[in-house]
Amino acid sequence: MIQLQPRHAMALFTALTLTVVPALAQTGEKIAKAGNAAGAPACVTCHGASGQGLPTAGFPRLAGLNAAYFLRQLQSFHDATRVNPIMAPIVQQLSAADRQALAAYYAGLAVTNNDGESPADPKSLIAGEALAQRGDWNNGVPACAQCHGRKGLGVGAAFPQIAGQHPTYIVSQLQAWRTGMRKNDPLGLMHGIALKLSAADIDAVAAYYGSLDAAPSTKRSVKP
Ligand code: HEC
Ligand code: HEC
Repeated sequence: MIQLQPRHAMALFTALTLTVVPALAQTGEKIAKAGNAAGAPACVTCHGASGQGLPTAGFPRLAGLNAAYFLRQLQSFHDATRVNPIMAPIVQQLSAADRQALAAYYAGLAVTNNDGESPADPKSLIAGEALAQRGDWNNGVPACAQCHGRKGLGVGAAFPQIAGQHPTYIVSQLQAWRTGMRKNDPLGLMHGIALKLSAADIDAVAAYYGSLDAAPSTKRSVKP
């Protein structure tokens, strides 16, 4: 009988994931670029050739999103806990396997910064940073950083990355939680927070997160 040593099992596992994940991502790439036979449109039309979104239209960046978060959002469009007239018909045309493949593909794409996108007013950035990093306790608003990470890069599958996302999209989501168009968040965490934010708070915090590095930065060194 063949004894499977832990290191052999590990090697087998690595070999499997190395072949399965790229195959999944390749299928995802095909659907993203050309749609599928069931009639789903190419995602690139709206989300950009490399998944960076389209800020003027409010289409979010998908590159680098955690795969489990991504799948949950597709499911939410499907069960209408996230109401969106554009994405709702699209998800109907995606099979479970298509969704997995798309999630794997987008999770593997590199994220780029919003350089050059409508520069924010410095006062707004300062107010946004204060809210993001310290919250507004008089008003019962916790710091966004507590859940989304110190740099907004996200934490695990539950708390998505918001650093480098387009401000137009961040604003639209906070408004969607206020109005109840989006109510898929665990424990209503974002709904409760969004209700306590003013329009100025929303603009400021969106501008701040839009201005942050979208990936852990190695290139910006501290100047002497
Ligand atoms: C016609 C434009 C359009 C096309 C085509 C499109 N999307 Fe979208 N997508 C949107 C819009 C608009 C939103 C924001 C919805 C909202 O405000 O809730 C969105 C949001 C999403 C989100 C949520 C992102 C987040 O950060 O929560 C995912 C995931 C997504 N789309 C995946 C896809 C996939 C996969 C495809 C291709 C099969 C696709 N989309 C095709 C317009 C589009
Ligand atoms: C108590 C934890 C918590 C705090 C604090 C928090 N968030 Fe969230 N946020 C979440 C969770 C959980 C989700 C994912 C909801 C889902 O699964 O759809 C989320 C999602 C989001 C999204 C949607 C991202 C996307 O890709 O669609 C935005 C934008 C956002 N949060 C902004 C903020 C801002 C701005 C603040 C601070 C004012 C904040 N959050 C504070 C838990 C939190």
